[in-house]
Amino acid sequence: MTKIKATNITWHEGHVKREEREKLLKQKGCLIWMTGLSGSGKSTFAYTLEHTLMQRGHLCYVLDGDNIRHGLNKNLGFSAEDREENIRRIGEVAKLFADAGLITVTAFISPYRKDRDRNRELLGPGNFFEVFCDTPIEVCEQRDPKGLYKKARAGELKGFTGVDDPYEAPLQSELVLDASKVTPQEAVVRLIEMLEKAGKIPPLGA
Ligand code: ADX
Repeated sequence: MTKIKATNITWHEGHVKREEREKLLKQKGCLIWMTGLSGSGKSTFAYTLEHTLMQRGHLCYVLDGDNIRHGLNKNLGFSAEDREENIRRIGEVAKLFADAGLITVTAFISPYRKDRDRNRELLGPGNFFEVFCDTPIEVCEQRDPKGLYKKARAGELKGFTGVDDPYEAPLQSELVLDASKVTPQEAVVRLIEMLEKAGKIPPLGA
């Protein structure tokens, strides 16, 4: 855990409350945390959900591993330590987004259970939905959209998750999706159901 290094800092409370922002947006801020191997469908599910929510009049924003590693987290690699910091930063950003009232969806491999659990705690009860993209590695490897499994199997890429780096599957996630069994549209139906049930968005026509 990164310690606070700055001293002489004071938390400043604003005048506008989260509840007021949520009322304005007609939704409740939260974080949907997609986790799973590379090629397991995380980003596709996330962006399809974002699109569907937009069509329903909801504000959603996707934080995607590959994209975030081009900017905010471009100084991080794939060691356990760097992956931990990657996930910690995203948890903090998503916490701010949830406080802003946004439905945030993250798509990171996030291979370590403790890093994901820390974000669950950070977001607080009812604000964190872990979605395990449990697509068999054989399928992920067959899809191999970036050709990285091929490189890893050939020994040209070291420490690739699922090949020679660990992935710790969730023990109790809110939802499990297998991209070899559900289409992105079917997955989104289940994700929307989950959000409605939790009272994050009202049911259609309400
Ligand atoms: S995480 O493990 O820290 O959560 P993150 O989701 O940000 O990973 O980034 C994963 C993406 O980085 C993969 O989809 C892949 O495109 C790329 N990548 C490059 N090197 C590796 C590696 N050694 N292990 C896993 N993914 C890698």
